[in-house]
Amino acid sequence: MCGIIGYIGDRRAQDVLIKGLSRLEYRGYDSAGIVTLKDNKLCLVKKQGKLRALIEELKNNPLEGTLGIGHTRWATHGVPSDTNAHPHLDCSGKIAVVHNGIIENYLELKKALSKKGHKFVSETDTEIIAHLIEKFYKGDIEEAVLKAVKLLKGSYAIAVIHKNEPDKLVGARCDSPLIIGLGKSENFLASDVPAVLDYTDTVIYLENHEVIGLTKDSIRIRDLSGRVIRKKPTKIKWDIAQAEKGGYDHFMLKEIFEQAHILKNILEERLNNSGIVFEELKIKTSDLRRVKRIAIVACGTAYHAGLTGKYMLEEYAGLPSWVDTSSEFRYRNPIVDKDTLVVIVSQSGETADSLAALREARKRGSKVLGICNVLGSSIAREADGVIYTHAGPEIAVASTKAYTAQLAILYLFTLYLAGIRKTVSPGKLGLLIREFKKMPALMGELLDEYKSEYNILAAYAQEFKRYYLQKHNKSCFLYLARNINYPNALEGALKLKEISYLSAEGYPAGEMKHGPIALIDENPWVVCIVTRSKTYDKMLSNIQEVKARGGIVIAITTEGDKTILHYNINYLIEIPKTEELFSPLLVVIPLQLLAYYVAREFGCDIDQPRNLAKSVTVE
Ligand code: AGP
Repeated sequence: MCGIIGYIGDRRAQDVLIKGLSRLEYRGYDSAGIVTLKDNKLCLVKKQGKLRALIEELKNNPLEGTLGIGHTRWATHGVPSDTNAHPHLDCSGKIAVVHNGIIENYLELKKALSKKGHKFVSETDTEIIAHLIEKFYKGDIEEAVLKAVKLLKGSYAIAVIHKNEPDKLVGARCDSPLIIGLGKSENFLASDVPAVLDYTDTVIYLENHEVIGLTKDSIRIRDLSGRVIRKKPTKIKWDIAQAEKGGYDHFMLKEIFEQAHILKNILEERLNNSGIVFEELKIKTSDLRRVKRIAIVACGTAYHAGLTGKYMLEEYAGLPSWVDTSSEFRYRNPIVDKDTLVVIVSQSGETADSLAALREARKRGSKVLGICNVLGSSIAREADGVIYTHAGPEIAVASTKAYTAQLAILYLFTLYLAGIRKTVSPGKLGLLIREFKKMPALMGELLDEYKSEYNILAAYAQEFKRYYLQKHNKSCFLYLARNINYPNALEGALKLKEISYLSAEGYPAGEMKHGPIALIDENPWVVCIVTRSKTYDKMLSNIQEVKARGGIVIAITTEGDKTILHYNINYLIEIPKTEELFSPLLVVIPLQLLAYYVAREFGCDIDQPRNLAKSVTVE
């Protein structure tokens, strides 16, 4: 996944492009570049490395001009290097392109273009787009782009300028996000809203196979047949501050602490006197009543949310539910049909495997519900219905607030189904909703315990670091849980490994005797989720098994639990009392914070961990 930006107006384009790219770095950060147009000359600077490398380079070589495009990259074709960084040019050096996505037929196009004498300098798929546009260029860059993109297979969001057309900024998209930012005597193109929020809060979300021609005072959107399309602008409600760190050291910490507020907003927005409201759902209640089973399909953290959803759907909506990772679902022969509701959970709404799974499910006749955070994202638009999580921009690569927002929507959707399918009495439903409404305050209380810099989780993280160094880096983490909190064991492990690079595994605690218990000696730190539940006693036995083999136990328990104190726990974390069904919303908070503080102890790049990008828009 990469970030692209384009600007046309009266400001110095370099300033706008760099500011915009800094807001898009979470989309990829292994190289960056910009090009501006000044006095009919394309001035291009691009560098391997994070955006700051490009900024340094521009200090010695500042670019003038009020038209330009820029790019921050997450390599898919061609290693991160200056040459492979975008923008890319055609043979004449008159056409510049930046691109987010993957051109699946680029080799065949490259071969055909090479036969016509085109010379390529990079290993990227993107470069062929510049040469393809050159092939069709007859004096109108917008026309040339419209013709060129028809030959592209795969995903693209591009911005294009031509040295002889100083008044035109052109864009196009298919399966990669692209928005227009509408300003006064200036317009913007970008992969995502934060890139333009410093200048405008009015945007247009573009759809697949749309080509955009911008001047500083006009916009034209056309489909591939050239027909003009009218689109309504959207007013963005959240300001740039939300996309900034808000005083926290890292986006991840900010986003962890936003969760109670977001949960409160979700409940206020979705619960009113007439019950549970999903305005944007667009799947008819009658269709939902007819559903015989549910398949939840997702990746990573979203997959863990889906696993939790399974427990609630089976318990309260009485629906057989299974959960698949998108990459497995799409290459299996999934038995889904018109009686199966497929739910795709995806924060970005752009994850390639999840988008492919959506298309596979629709091909097989299933209705698809998307649970997404990014408005207008590909999955949101291609699903039969969507429920937005409205968690605001999640900038940290490690997903936190999007996860609890996904859980919240899954709870609401479960209760919604239970209501329309009458699998729960109105009285019980009312009780569950009343319990649910307590969660934002309980989550806020729990978060407040960690507001101060020096809290017990930060202390435990320091302890672990000391222990790890004493053990000459031999220690690791195991996460054990049962029933509706078992997915949280997987999520806690994922959080830790993706930001601290330490070995961490989550297991259903009942599995210990089937192998994993062989891992237990005095080395691993074992996080046990042992909150009040129907499997509480079983978890106590698991803790005994770990302690008997010298293991170190961090126990997450329900506050006021005295029994646990007799089990020789090394570290204790308490969460407020709540209905077992909703406990995952609270249990995950210390898991997120523990991962954060351990990663901070190890000096890791918490918001932009190595090898990862915020959304995996390639396979
Ligand atoms: C979560 O911390 C990870 N960054 C990753 O597993 C993520 O959840 C996964 O890539 C799915 O992304 P999506 O929700 O945007 O589809």
